[in-house]
Amino acid sequence: MAKETKDYSKYFDFSGAKVISEDEHGKKIRLGGRDIHIVSEPNYRQEKQRGKEEVKVLYDNAVPEALRTLGTNKKYLIYTYGCQMNEHDTEVMKGLFEQMGYTATEDRNEADVILLNTCAIRENAEDKVFGELGHLKSLKTEKPELILGVCGCMSQEESVVSRILQKHSFVDLIFGTHNIHRLPELLMNAIFSKEMVVEVWSKEGDIIENLPKKREGMRAWVNIMYGCDKFCTYCIVPYTRGKERSRLPEDVIAEVRELARQGFKEITLLGQNVNAYGKDFTDRHYRFGDLMKDISKIDIPRVRFTTSHPRDFDDHLIEVLAGRGNLVEHIHLPVQSGSTAILKKMSRKYTRESYLELVRKIRAAIPDVVLTTDIIVGFPGETEEQFEETLSLVREVRFDSAFTFIYSPRAGTPAAEMADDVSAETKKERLKRLNDLMAELSRESNERLKGQIVEVLVEGESKNKANMLSGRTRTNKLVHFEGPKEWIGQFVHVRVTEPQTWYIKAEPVELATVQGAVS
Ligand code: SAH
Ligand code: SF4
Ligand code: F3S
Repeated sequence: MAKETKDYSKYFDFSGAKVISEDEHGKKIRLGGRDIHIVSEPNYRQEKQRGKEEVKVLYDNAVPEALRTLGTNKKYLIYTYGCQMNEHDTEVMKGLFEQMGYTATEDRNEADVILLNTCAIRENAEDKVFGELGHLKSLKTEKPELILGVCGCMSQEESVVSRILQKHSFVDLIFGTHNIHRLPELLMNAIFSKEMVVEVWSKEGDIIENLPKKREGMRAWVNIMYGCDKFCTYCIVPYTRGKERSRLPEDVIAEVRELARQGFKEITLLGQNVNAYGKDFTDRHYRFGDLMKDISKIDIPRVRFTTSHPRDFDDHLIEVLAGRGNLVEHIHLPVQSGSTAILKKMSRKYTRESYLELVRKIRAAIPDVVLTTDIIVGFPGETEEQFEETLSLVREVRFDSAFTFIYSPRAGTPAAEMADDVSAETKKERLKRLNDLMAELSRESNERLKGQIVEVLVEGESKNKANMLSGRTRTNKLVHFEGPKEWIGQFVHVRVTEPQTWYIKAEPVELATVQGAVS
């Protein structure tokens, strides 16, 4: 794989660009016949910095009255890539669009605005977005008044913004992860100025509360913190999402209470590293365990969280989770590698042994806990023995499932400077061996459930078969069973009949017969 260059100065070499004006509102340039207003552009150097200044919380953020009719009789469509954080940002943007009077559409041909909410985590995530931009070009040519925007993590990358300016100049709007709340004004500028508008803040902004959110279904995401300060050497997220900052507990709790009142059945607390929650508070000692404890008292049936970094997983949190109630018996605990030497090069700040010790403590407190993980294969310098240490750790922990990835170098990260010396073929072969092992473990774990009765939150009809419903157990296992549509959104008890590798077949049981239901 080609090593990406470190010379960022070249990214913003706009040779061929004519500077039209430059003032405190940014600069206006003309490039390839396109007028571009760069209000602010991404800057790796600033994204790396972690300032000491206090983060402010802003509460008054409704769409200005003057922009509430911008979307009358108009439609919007958002394509979302990446993690739950992005999915949830899309819900916020949908909320903003609807406050501007827009309605949603699934049909790109009838959309007046299309946004791509992008992910930068691996090269293939970025390739997908550039591929989609290629497809959208013809739509834009047919319908010049269509507004096409790019937002999300890719917008925070210098190289991406530069590439769009140079090669995809039909894009009308680029904004980043820190200025989502600016969407209404940016959109208005893009519509009325006919220029491409670029506004990407390189430094995280304040915490913006009370933005509208359009949630659907019975499950809701709730941000508890933003950003990441871990700087794992392979990862782009600390640059695209800024420094760690926690929402105030009172704001999180008020939101969860409101979701309970609205009848949501499950919430997932979101953060890149939820175990660091509260570490940035200067006025109180209140950590993730305290937050989980307070949320366990709210009348919402299921509470999940993602993602937890092994490093800050403390004993208090384990104790709180062991109290169960609405805190489910599933923990996603990314390990990345089973080799201490590789973990060190990844700067994960824990060892194979300390990870196993943490698992031991969690299992002692919650014996039926389901553990899932993320693993990267083919990190620079990973030897066959080190990869085998990953396999042996996976066997030892007996993860129920894992997201497995081939290492992808990200420009600007320290690992991108290391020799990417594991061949593409070896990486693929390791991924296959790991996935085969995961399939074996997942099957075994599902087999152990045979005959047991589990509680399922019914999410919808099964995609593949009529009369079949699907839902998830407390431990997040996918279950298919027969039942009426009226059960969607309800909890039902089912008996596991035919465990498969990645899902479970089951049959509903009369609630009266349920004795000592397990998860
Ligand atoms: N904050 C989460 C991870 C978010 S990214 C955590 O630390 O657990 C989700 C996963 O993508 C990571 O856990 C990692 O396994 C994978 N990932 C991140 N950067 C990657 C890269 N450059 N190449 C391959 N996989 C990567
Ligand atoms: Fe990336 Fe590491 Fe932060 Fe997770 S903890 S987002 S892997 S830097
Ligand atoms: Fe991707 Fe950004 Fe999430 S890089 S994984 S969308 S935080």
